[in-house]
Amino acid sequence: MADAPAFDIEKIPHPAPVPGATRDQAIADPGFGTVFTDHMVSIDYDEGKGWHSATLGPRQPIALDPAASVLHYAQEIFEGMKAYRLEDGSMALFRPEQNARRFNRSAARLAMPSLPEEMFLASVKAAVEADRDWFPAVNGGALYIRPFMFANEHFLGVRPAKKYKFLVILSPVGNYFKSGVPAVSIWVSSDYTRAAPGGTGDAKCGGNYAASLVPQAEAIAKGHDQVVFLDAVERKWIEELGGMNLFFVFDDGSIITPPLGGTILPGITRDSLLTLAREEGLTVREEKYSIDQWRDDAGSGRLVETMACGTAAVVTPVGRVASRDGEFTIGSGGPGQLTTKLREKLVGIQRGTVEDTHGWVTRI
Ligand code: COI
Repeated sequence: MADAPAFDIEKIPHPAPVPGATRDQAIADPGFGTVFTDHMVSIDYDEGKGWHSATLGPRQPIALDPAASVLHYAQEIFEGMKAYRLEDGSMALFRPEQNARRFNRSAARLAMPSLPEEMFLASVKAAVEADRDWFPAVNGGALYIRPFMFANEHFLGVRPAKKYKFLVILSPVGNYFKSGVPAVSIWVSSDYTRAAPGGTGDAKCGGNYAASLVPQAEAIAKGHDQVVFLDAVERKWIEELGGMNLFFVFDDGSIITPPLGGTILPGITRDSLLTLAREEGLTVREEKYSIDQWRDDAGSGRLVETMACGTAAVVTPVGRVASRDGEFTIGSGGPGQLTTKLREKLVGIQRGTVEDTHGWVTRI
């Protein structure tokens, strides 16, 4: 049912592209997720008919019936990807097939139809090709890609919808964290958790992010950049930041990251760092790590670095951690050696300045 017949994206001429001057101004200082390009890809799904009506057209508002089920029961999933510009001026994606696969795993968890991987990839490429002139003019910038799908059948019964829309929009982005911050500070939430066993923690669905907003606001109110969540059962094991995975680096050259197990998002940056760290000869363990141990190890100097990673955040050092029980600093409180090294390697591969020995880069 989910398999579409031959897939063709109809190109709808753009009636009113954003004027070049406006675009140039936007890409000179885009921030994160505030500026959008002027095309989008759209594909519809109807039960019985499958995926159909694929178009690349102007980015514009979409009509939704007030009873559209996404507005009531939150059947929505998304991906976060980036297009990079290589030194020869061509554009490239980083492990896009991993995003396509994860998108379908999220779809399955939210009782949504799967989207054939080649459709996902062709849509992303078509959008990037159309708006390559929107590539930001800032150091470290990228074209952030947001593929997403939501239920748009209008019906108030609680059951999987029979109609969906898949869209791809693009946003030129600079740094996720405001530039000039050498390391982020994070707040350990005691009152809230992000995901329980059996829940949707490993799916990239909007609902997970909605639930993280209050604890994230609490972190900001307390003067921190991000919130970190503990497990929902014992309230002791470190999980993730909600939009980023965590890695802990020790003085003996070993690294720990919390294991996937249903409550943590399987980050593609996380997976890439696991590979790169192993290639550096480091001992890497996917293992539970507790908040008490984190505090003790930071105090004793056994823990030398902590990094947060994700598509948006890339690899960001964590310098300071605070909770109801007090505060501690990690290492010097600034970027550590390994964090810097792994970040440079990853970014180098993504931007074509470091050899891609893994076949991770797809040129467009
Ligand atoms: C990403 O890293 O791409 C995400 O989807 C997470 C969000 C913080 C933007």
